[in-house]
Amino acid sequence: MKVNGKQFRTIRVQKGDDKVIQVINQPLLPHKFEIMDILSCREMAKAIENMNVRGAGLIGAAAGYGMYLATIEASRQRDFDSHLEKAAEMLVATRPTATNLSWAVKRQLKAINKAEGLADKVKAAFDTANAIADEDAECGRKIGEHGLPILKEIADRKNGEPVNILTHCNAGWLALVDYGSATAPIYAAQEAGIPLHIWVDETRPRNQGSRLTAWEMEQAGIPYTIIADNTGGHLMQHNMVDICITGTDRVTRTGDVANKIGTYLKALAAKDNKIPFYVALPSSTFDWEIRDGIKEIPVEQRSDEEVKYAFGLYNGQMTKVLLTPPEAKAANYAFDVTPSRLVTALITERGICQPNEESILNLFPEQR
Ligand code: MRU
Repeated sequence: MKVNGKQFRTIRVQKGDDKVIQVINQPLLPHKFEIMDILSCREMAKAIENMNVRGAGLIGAAAGYGMYLATIEASRQRDFDSHLEKAAEMLVATRPTATNLSWAVKRQLKAINKAEGLADKVKAAFDTANAIADEDAECGRKIGEHGLPILKEIADRKNGEPVNILTHCNAGWLALVDYGSATAPIYAAQEAGIPLHIWVDETRPRNQGSRLTAWEMEQAGIPYTIIADNTGGHLMQHNMVDICITGTDRVTRTGDVANKIGTYLKALAAKDNKIPFYVALPSSTFDWEIRDGIKEIPVEQRSDEEVKYAFGLYNGQMTKVLLTPPEAKAANYAFDVTPSRLVTALITERGICQPNEESILNLFPEQR
């Protein structure tokens, strides 16, 4: 993705110093584009927990680099294994819903344990972190390729009218290493000359839609309109949405989908209005161990402050303002689960499948 015309990824190794990992400090967007240096596994864990880096794919890549930094640190300790184990636990505990996090940590532990000698272990961790990041970006690109025909078919029916796509949260370039998941077909359609218009759910309480997706659309020059979270149903009733595409943080082997809180309500409204509801994901987001999303996917609960306060630009300064009675109680469930029956299909890097075990496993036979 380009930022002010310059090619960027959401995470990278600093040129000239491969012990420094650089990420975009996302809470400052869209007002400030700042690169943040991460020098230790603990700093990476904090960056994930505080959502300086966020989005399932990017969290996975960040955890990969976090494990690499932990390996450097562990190689200076007396007990390499126990240091690494603690680092893995610390990273996994930061955000419980996105499965990419534990997937990346497990992949790192396997690669590091296989290598012999400290220098080789550090090298294995570095190579694996880079591979996770590269694969995530490539998954985004392929999701775009596979999703494009869906948008093309709608565009053909609309005779030059823009395809209206509703998306929730930020499943864009900022949520993966590149391209995004839900936005990848959008970028591919833009490149194919398909006229588009994106309905961007603001996505309270962290406003990933109105801050991040809107900024991405600006950067890409794609027409969009931000809507308050409760608007989607009304738009769908009035034929103003052709398709919903969201990302996801965890998908069961049966096709239940966890995503940012509010996704389920959009899927219900889409079903009621016969609007296709697609979910885009890299396969690192499948949790192959579970079948029942509502019972088995852990839903992260975050600080009530995120609900009670808004954070934005005031007089040129990033400012936090209280919205509620100071002593008000607030609940902050960060994700919900959309049952597979409400999902039209899943768009993955290997192609499109139905949200059921048989169809998913046809695409990923190694998980049978
Ligand atoms: O809490 P966040 O901002 O990390 O939540 C992100 C989402 O819910 C995205 O939609 C999800 O990660 C899918 S895109 C990779």
